[in-house]
Amino acid sequence: MRAVRGEILHFTGDPAGGGAESLQHFADGLLIVRDGLVAEAGPADALLAKLPADARIEELRGRLILPGFVDTHIHFAQTDIIASPGGQLLTWLERYTWPAERAFADPSHAGSVAEFFCDELLRNGTTSAAVFPTVHRASVDALFEAALRRRMRIISGKVLMDRNCPDFLCERCEDGELESIALIERWHGRGRLLYAVTPRFAATSTPQQMRLAGRLMGDHPGIHLQSHLAENLAEVAWIRELYPEARSYLDVYDRFGQLGPRSVFAHCVWLDDADRARMAATGAAMSFCPTSNLFLGSGLFDLAKADAAGVRVGIGTDVGAGTSFSMLQTLGEAYKVLQLNGQSLSPERAFYLATLGGARSLYLDDRIGSFAPGREADFVVLDPAATPLLARRSAACETLAERLFVLMMLGDDRAVAETWVMGEPAWRRT
Ligand code: GUN
Ligand code: ZN
Repeated sequence: MRAVRGEILHFTGDPAGGGAESLQHFADGLLIVRDGLVAEAGPADALLAKLPADARIEELRGRLILPGFVDTHIHFAQTDIIASPGGQLLTWLERYTWPAERAFADPSHAGSVAEFFCDELLRNGTTSAAVFPTVHRASVDALFEAALRRRMRIISGKVLMDRNCPDFLCERCEDGELESIALIERWHGRGRLLYAVTPRFAATSTPQQMRLAGRLMGDHPGIHLQSHLAENLAEVAWIRELYPEARSYLDVYDRFGQLGPRSVFAHCVWLDDADRARMAATGAAMSFCPTSNLFLGSGLFDLAKADAAGVRVGIGTDVGAGTSFSMLQTLGEAYKVLQLNGQSLSPERAFYLATLGGARSLYLDDRIGSFAPGREADFVVLDPAATPLLARRSAACETLAERLFVLMMLGDDRAVAETWVMGEPAWRRT
């Protein structure tokens, strides 16, 4: 048994309603871990008395301890093209993405990027993520191997694409099926790893492959499905040409049986209310990727409409179109996107979305996203005084909400002092 002592914050519900009962905050708190799981979180004075004499206590007073961040959409194979200026989505894909992803046929390249990528997630306090690799089997193996060694909760699966892409990324539909099945058998449920059927987007799969993706999800209960949806107007127009029979872009995925609990769609910028209602009814989730939407000039995500429809929403960095691995920076940009849409994002809601909200969107809130007893003890230790400016600005704050807001506007990887996975330190700032 071990414990950490510091300021503790986690969510028990969605603060969107404004109720204080959606969070637990212990200014001097103790988080007790047993066998890698949360045993209890509460006020230090009460819990210290209960702790066995030989329990190891880590002293983290002055730091803010939150559940590990959940990044609901990111591309590990785009790590090395982050910050590549390439116009909007479709030209950016051609100019940077396809050439970069080509290199992941090579297991040693895939392996070295996967190592860097997983370390970078941990350096930013992210302990769980839904990740796109490439079409190559080697890319999936590399990512899962790196995550398994670090005991991270990673959801991923081979990208499926069999049209509208260069030859070197284009597969035969039958090969995609056989490889996906082999990878599901090899990886799903191993350690904390989970498989996601990953049709890149409706434009790069034939109807035959789209049907296959829906069938794979149906045939393997418990696996996820991840894709992109309604990110960019030129993309939406292209989808309309490719699938003239569909009512909307979302309807394409729906027709092929891809909507349901554990389906997560990145972007969801250009949807209508019928689409949102359908996502809510089927249990599919949206990943809001603000830095990417700004970087590619895609558009402004509408959180108020997603909320009104009752859709599950998480936050995604979407690296490499996204411009930061930091969920703190991503929350800051989410705030600005919503400002442009005449909406607001409270700091409590923002940190909820980065933790429990993300876990709920992935149907993993029984395992991650909070400090409820029995949850996997993943947490991030933030230093509110990590930089001179953060220290100065944080010192002037009077409320928890103000301090959280400062962290999401000014914080980045420098504010992450430590990241713990399954109750053990996995990364420490030196
Ligand atoms: N749509 C299809 N593929 C991609 C991708 O790699 N990145 C983004 N942002 N959108 C996509
Ligand atoms: Zn993406």
